[in-house]
Order: sequence, then C-alpha cells, then structure tokens
Amino acid sequence: MSALVRNYNRRKIAFKKGKGSFLYSTDGKKYLDFVQGIAVNSLGHANPYLIKAMNKQAKKVWHVSNAFVIPEGERLAKRLTQKTFADYVVFQNSGAEATEAAIKAARRYFYSIGKTKKNRILCIKNSFHGRTLATIFASGSKKMTEGFGPKVPGFDHFDFADHKGLKKAITKNTAAIMCETAMGESGIKVIPEWCLKGIRKICNEKKILLILDEVQCGIGRSGKFLAFEYAKIRPDIVPIAKGIGGGFPIGAVLMNKKVASAMTPGSHGSTFGGNPLAMSVGNAVLDQIFKKGFLKNVELNSKYFISGLKKIKYDYPKIIKEVRGIGLLLGIQLYKDQNKFIKKLEENKLLTIRAGENVVRILPPLNVKKNEIDLAIKIFRKVCNQLN
Ligand SMILES: Cc1ncc(COP(=O)(O)O)c(C=O)c1O
Repeated sequence: MSALVRNYNRRKIAFKKGKGSFLYSTDGKKYLDFVQGIAVNSLGHANPYLIKAMNKQAKKVWHVSNAFVIPEGERLAKRLTQKTFADYVVFQNSGAEATEAAIKAARRYFYSIGKTKKNRILCIKNSFHGRTLATIFASGSKKMTEGFGPKVPGFDHFDFADHKGLKKAITKNTAAIMCETAMGESGIKVIPEWCLKGIRKICNEKKILLILDEVQCGIGRSGKFLAFEYAKIRPDIVPIAKGIGGGFPIGAVLMNKKVASAMTPGSHGSTFGGNPLAMSVGNAVLDQIFKKGFLKNVELNSKYFISGLKKIKYDYPKIIKEVRGIGLLLGIQLYKDQNKFIKKLEENKLLTIRAGENVVRILPPLNVKKNEIDLAIKIFRKVCNQLN
C-alpha cells in the first residue's frame, strides 16, 4: 500500500524513462506524452542539451545561498529582462510561490508609497494561481478552498469576460488586477488581445498594478516568449515557472523598476530559489527557446495542430464542442465529462490531461515534431470514432 497522502487521484501508470515527446512505462508500453508534466518539460524528456548543462553545473556547485552572489542567476535574470518588459527578477521554486511573491510585491509597492490600505487583489473567479493559502483564496474557487479556512483576506473576484463586473469590483483599496493571460487549469480560456489592452487601460486609469500569471502559458508555450506580447502591452508583475526549468523546479517573478524598488533587502527571500543548479538549467532552456525560429515554429505547429483538431470537431460535432487555445496550450472542450475520453486516448497511447469545463488539455513539448502531431490527431480521430 502506498504511503503517499491521497491528495491525488493518480492514474495507474508509472514510467521508467522518457525521450523527447515519448514516455516508456514500467510495463513496457510507449506513450506519446502530450502532458509533459503539465506544461513543464518545454523541451521534452531527457533533452541532451539540458542534461549536459545540469551535469556540468552539478560538478561545480549546486547550492550556496542567496547571501552570496550567484553568477548563473545574475545571467538568467539579465537575459529575462533583456527579452521582456521586466527590469528586475526574483527567483523562487514553483509557480505558487512565484504568484504569491507577485501578490507580495504589489502590496509592498503601495505600502512603500504610503498607501497602506491599498492592498486588495482583484482576480478572476475560478482561476488558478497555485495551492498555497493565499493563492487558493486568490482563485475564488469553492472547491480549492474548502476546509482550509479561515479565509485569507484581501482578494476580490469578477467573472471571466464580465467587463462590467470587473470595473465594478475595483475599489479605492484595490492594488492590482491579477489574471492568467491564458487560463490553463480552468479550461484553456485565452483572454483576447483587445481585452488585455482594456485591462491595462483600466489599470492605468485607476493607477493600479497589472499582474499577469504566466506560470502555465509563459516561456514560449503561447508561441511568444510571454503570452501577453500578442496584445503589445506591458504588465507590472509577471510570475513564471513551469517551462523555464524544463522539468527542473524554478519559479520567478518578473517586475518593473517601480515595483522592484519596494522590495528592499529583507523584504522577501527563499532558501532554494535561484540556486546555481536551477539557474544553469534555466539558462540552458533559454538557449534553446531564444534560438532563431524556435518560437515561430511553435506558432506554425500550433496552427497545424488546431486545424487538425478543428477538422475532427467538424466530423464529430456531437462529441467536440470547441477547440481552444493558444500556441501549444491547447484543449478540446467536449459535450460530456472528459474522463472517459482521456482514458480512451491513454489506451491508444496518447497522454493528455483534464482542465475545467470538460476540456481535454493538450500540452506537447514546444519542440514537438510534425509527425508526432499527426500521430496525436490520428489517435484523437480514432477515439472520437470509438465513442461516436
Ligand atoms: C497559472 C498558474 N499559476 C500558478 C500555478 C501553480 O504552480 P505550482 O504548481 O508550480 O505551484 C499553476 C500550476 O498549474 C498555474 O497553472
């Protein structure tokens, strides 16, 4: 019997190795892995370049402490600022930690300018920002917060796409609007460009901060390095994680100069965040993602994949309600509960994962090959046919 806490509904499948887009199970089966650790393995399994970078650093120094200068982290931070809106970066270990640090930074900014009551964060109802106490209450989800009271105060909510509700929910104590640029867990719901522009405009008018959670949709997943780049806006704070480590736990918060100025020595910290081993892997991930044509290829593969999925939707209109997504953060929304569909895909050796609103979430590695997309499409069609 497993000694692990039962907080997961695990599938009865274990893997002995992975390579690129594929996973090999302990019982000898080969799966096309379009979960990739839930958008984490941006460069697939056992990527030789990442292995080399990690091994090289492992022989030098793994961990020191943020009490010292960490050149690998200096380099990663510099590269992130050169490619984004950010002026400064702070490293964490996970997405929830990064999101929570983003909330802290927003509050600390208003504290630093003497507006101590301006500390409320306005979020989308039923969004996902992690599993720490603050981030579950930020999500506004009944399911995630159940039994974890007392409620962490300081969060207000509006419904997805409810523009009037958003405006109404802003009070004089609102410090920031925080949302995922493309909502992953809640059902692959992409905030349209014009909407992001509108939110930025509201933030400017109300003199509040914009936090865009790019933990899942960032680091090339959308086809841009950060998904909001499509809207040509500049947020104030952006938590990232998942893809930046390619499977190694890394979180980070990108922020502009104004916000960063409030994060003075002692205001925040982490034992592991930004250690040399993690930073070396992060730099190796960026070496690949920043390669000429890499992101363009994500966009091209996205278009190819979406058009393939739309053809299946056309042929099976009673099974598939909608094809959703951006870049390689894709989903098909079904009319019925998606568990049976996901199980069937698994039986046909394609791994996917659920998201809200009956969505089957599809997360190939960013360097997925066209023939692997073809294979996935073939399996989707077969399963639709089996369930028709
Ligand atoms: C948008 C978003 N924010 C935060 C998190 C939390 O990240 P982690 O599980 O690394 O704590 C996730 C995880 O799925 C996420 O998708």
